[in-house]
Amino acid sequence: MNAGQREAQKERAASAAVSLVESGMTLGLGSGSTFRYALNALARRIASGELCDIRAVPSSGATAKLAQAKGIPLLPLTADLLLDLTIDGADELDGDHRMIKGGGGALLREKLIAEASARLAIAVDGSKIVKQLGKYPLPVEVLPFGWERQQVFLAELGAEVSLRQDSQNRPYLTDNGNYILDCHFGAIAEPQTLAAAIKARTGIIEHGLFIDLATDVFVASQASVQSSQRGSKDAAQPLLPQS
Ligand code: 5RP
Repeated sequence: MNAGQREAQKERAASAAVSLVESGMTLGLGSGSTFRYALNALARRIASGELCDIRAVPSSGATAKLAQAKGIPLLPLTADLLLDLTIDGADELDGDHRMIKGGGGALLREKLIAEASARLAIAVDGSKIVKQLGKYPLPVEVLPFGWERQQVFLAELGAEVSLRQDSQNRPYLTDNGNYILDCHFGAIAEPQTLAAAIKARTGIIEHGLFIDLATDVFVASQASVQSSQRGSKDAAQPLLPQS
């Protein structure tokens, strides 16, 4: 698949996810290039009058700016707010709707929003589908204070760990002022066990394993967009990696 085909797939998967949006919904807005296609599709449906009374919580400063530019009213993530639907992308997605996210560095707020949502719709191009998670390095957000101790801890769990850097070779800072450690685990045999081990560590803020969160996934191939809902997996076609 070339770059143009991949972008076309992202756009079609994102538009399919946006078809779940109904007037009056409060949305969670993801981050990343696939999500940007979703935001464009959402803005088109609002501009055409097909959708009204849409409000949203953004998962990053970058998304907040884009949504504001499109005139979408933004809300803070307050205690009493239940989001109807969050739309987002992913870096890897397996057949059980488990994901690696955080390639764009927004994993903490993306997970907070996903957990506050009744539904989480994930849109991906076919290259993101894997049999086993782990080829894509797992992003882990850590407190800058003592971060090297987390690097050692993650290496002891089996990863090759690198501190994410920005374009000027300084440590990349998340919207929350934290660092990201990119962890190359290779195939992750037990995502749930790894997630629990990482989560329990003081100084680690959050990891990019998203398990039991995605309710609806939209996977584009060259020919079509395949959707699958959690709970109706048996009826849906299996999600297979594209060769
Ligand atoms: C950002 C994310 C993105 O959803 C993920 O990195 C996918 O991005 P893209 O759609 O650009 O491939 O998790 O933190």
